[in-house]
Amino acid sequence: MAQIFSAGADTSLKLFLVGAAVAIVAGFVLLGGFVGSGYRTNVGFRPAQPVPFSHKHHVGGLGLDCRYCHAAVEVSAAAGFPPTHTCMTCHSQLYTDAAMLAPVRQSMANNRPLHWSRIATLPEYVYFDHSIHIAKGVGCSTCHGQIQEMPLAYTAKALTMGFCIGCHRDPAPYLRANEAEVFDMNWRPASDQHAAGERRMAERGIAGRNITDCYTCHR
Ligand code: HEC
Ligand code: HEC
Ligand code: HEC
Ligand code: HEC
Ligand code: HEC
Repeated sequence: MAQIFSAGADTSLKLFLVGAAVAIVAGFVLLGGFVGSGYRTNVGFRPAQPVPFSHKHHVGGLGLDCRYCHAAVEVSAAAGFPPTHTCMTCHSQLYTDAAMLAPVRQSMANNRPLHWSRIATLPEYVYFDHSIHIAKGVGCSTCHGQIQEMPLAYTAKALTMGFCIGCHRDPAPYLRANEAEVFDMNWRPASDQHAAGERRMAERGIAGRNITDCYTCHR
């Protein structure tokens, strides 16, 4: 082999290459560690609320549709919380003296919104939009769990980068047939989900787009 480098230079080149390889591996380990370490994975988090609102009673029991209270979920980035008058549609007649509903009555009388504590949040540097997920067939329960069974809402799934990218890499197993299925909290994949999911990806223009780019969620 021609002597391009002196023996000394060869050693430092090797050292440099080894160093670079170690740095790259360390970078991946570090990123992997962040993604899988439980960082911001506050599963089970159930904050105190101004009123002990129960999805189990209102959704599981009474059968109210999510959009009755989270009206913006199909058309905007945020699903939003219901205004007090939505509660009072029923509670101006039902349980009108119940102490636990006093904050609702006060909110209505003073025209001040109730302040619900959030259970699902992302850091500010992450961009998220409900409407595109709903439109493309991703159901509420995939990200929020079985909220229709919760007497008090809690964080059921860790909304980590690993969770988001896991689906963005291959959405087919999760894509539901239609709007009714997206809002069906008891949806389970059918036996032909794999083929159906791939077909839905093509039909809905998901296939071929790169939604794992960093820019998708960090803009
Ligand atoms: C009668 C009104 C009502 C209906 C119907 C309703 N919700 Fe809610 N939802 C609320 C209220 C009030 C809160 C805030 C208090 C709480 O967290 O329980 C809330 C909170 C949530 C949260 C927690 C968000 C956060 O970050 O704090 C999720 C997720 C949610 N709802 C999903 C759903 C889904 C999915 C459906 C349909 C299956 C649904 N809701 C139906 C009123 C409703
Ligand atoms: C469509 C009618 C309807 C709407 C809208 C509604 N409720 Fe209710 N709510 C009921 C009924 C019916 C019950 C009794 C449920 C039961 O005991 O199974 C109830 C019960 C309650 C209770 C007593 C505890 C429980 O869950 O049994 C609370 C607290 C409550 N609702 C809060 C709210 C709040 C806050 C809102 C608005 C975000 C709201 N409700 C909207 C019909 C409604
Ligand atoms: C792909 C995952 C995903 C799906 C599907 C999804 N959500 Fe969410 N949801 C989130 C994330 C992430 C947040 C927190 C957003 C933030 O902090 O900016 C959130 C927040 C919420 C909140 C709190 C208020 C708000 O808008 O931030 C409500 C209520 C809610 N979702 C309801 C729903 C309902 C109802 C559905 C189904 C129609 C649904 N979500 C489907 C991921 C999802
Ligand atoms: C279960 C599957 C699934 C999960 C989980 C999921 N997504 Fe998505 N996401 C999709 C699909 C499907 C699309 C639509 C892609 C398309 O139309 O090409 C999408 C689109 C998006 C878009 C819009 C992309 C664009 O350029 O228009 C953003 C932003 C996004 N997702 C962020 C998130 C974040 C942040 C999370 C985690 C909190 C998340 N997603 C979790 C399936 C998912
Ligand atoms: C589908 C959405 C999505 C994509 C694509 C995505 N991220 Fe993230 N990223 C998130 C979410 C959600 C969080 C916050 C939750 C968490 O830390 O897991 C996050 C957090 C981060 C953080 C902070 C981690 C920490 O522990 O504080 C870094 C750094 C990051 N992302 C870098 C990247 C890079 C680099 C890429 C491209 C290779 C990328 N992200 C692509 C959704 C995404």
